Amino acid sequence: KGLRVADKGFLNTAVMRSTITYIDGDAGVLRYRGYPIEQLALHSSHLETAYLLIYGALPSASQLATFQNEVMHHGVVHADAEQFCRSFRYDAHPMAILTSAFAYLGSYYSEANPSLQGQNIYTRGDKASLALMDKQIYRLIGKATTLAAMAYRVRQGREFVTPPKNLSYTGSFLYQMDHLGEENYVPNPVLEKALDVLFLLHADHELNASATTVLQTGSSLVDPYSAIAAGCASLYGPLHGGANEAVIRMLISIGKPENVPAFLEAVKRREKVLSGFGHRVYKTSDPRSFIVRKTADDVFKITGKDELLETAMALHEAAMKDEYFIQRKLAPNVDFCGLIYRAMGFPLDFFPVLFAVPRVVGWLAHWRQMMLQEGGVKIWRPRQIYVGETKRDYVPINERV
Ligand code: CMC
Repeated sequence: KGLRVADKGFLNTAVMRSTITYIDGDAGVLRYRGYPIEQLALHSSHLETAYLLIYGALPSASQLATFQNEVMHHGVVHADAEQFCRSFRYDAHPMAILTSAFAYLGSYYSEANPSLQGQNIYTRGDKASLALMDKQIYRLIGKATTLAAMAYRVRQGREFVTPPKNLSYTGSFLYQMDHLGEENYVPNPVLEKALDVLFLLHADHELNASATTVLQTGSSLVDPYSAIAAGCASLYGPLHGGANEAVIRMLISIGKPENVPAFLEAVKRREKVLSGFGHRVYKTSDPRSFIVRKTADDVFKITGKDELLETAMALHEAAMKDEYFIQRKLAPNVDFCGLIYRAMGFPLDFFPVLFAVPRVVGWLAHWRQMMLQEGGVKIWRPRQIYVGETKRDYVPINERV
């Protein structure tokens, strides 16, 4: 009653007051807790930025050391969870494995499950309750890379690797992904750093579809593992986290630079989608895309250039000059980083996982903010505008025409 206009796709609905991430989509500005993304990419690390996003301030040296230790310490998963991941088919999409594995983990930590207590157990200002929340945060960030590496290896029929000690977050991840048993194996420092920068760039992006899903799910007071699993499911789609995979499939289908004009014409006829372009919030270039380009230069020096790079550059150049895309303010988003992942040797369908793992940080920052908000959590229950039949009477099956 009283509702006349449905805001399809939430184009004009704000559901939270937030202090986490600021985006000015017209100016191409992205800041985490006030810090420009360019400064963080240059000077910070993914885990330091994770601390910033979740707790609101850059950590002191001892706070960072504690946070890193806790996260890395919680990287190990129970042997049963390994068994669970092994039960997937060799050709299962790794996002399906990751999504399920997060939900599965929730069954281990009943103390973290507000549903079992019938109320919000995460209370502002209560030390024990905040410590309980911190523990779930360490577990979820720590185990994200382990579960991702398991999703990768299960498809190759390879044994899982226990998270190593004394490596960075991305170093440990690369080690678990590809460690072949050599002694003193050390991931290439340039690739380790490049992945860390990409993780930091993907750590948060305010209330996109997946973060909103985490909050919507979390607003029923479900446990954070289930909420993160819901976020993964939302991210999986090709309009969101699946776009980095779709970009490469699109470039492969275009094949070579000469085919770009015909492809763009098909996009304009709405027969094809130009993946990696367009954004709900950015109406100019996504500021992360410049950092992705610089990171690509560093990676390609080690790995050699990706054969699709020329096609990607031709596509970029042609689209940026074309009236159709200019009028609609369509510019490259962050999803061209798929070219870097490909050069690093990650399989195509693993790309959304490389988005989901660092995004666990942002999801948790939003979840924590919501759970601890003043006045408590309000369940998210939007309204609809009913446009169906008015009342009609039931017709027995033999009387229906
Ligand atoms: N290719 C061709 N036309 C497009 C594209 C595109 N990639 N994106 C938007 N448009 C057109 C759209 O058809 C519409 O045209 P018209 O007004 O004539 O109907 C106009 O531009 C406005 O677009 P919209 O559909 O209203 O934009 P939206 O905010 O609803 O959708 C989007 C945003 C990201 C889903 C969309 O741009 C898209 O599908 N992009 C390709 C997929 C992609 O790269 N997704 C990753 C987004 S960034 C990372 C992330 O957050 O996951």
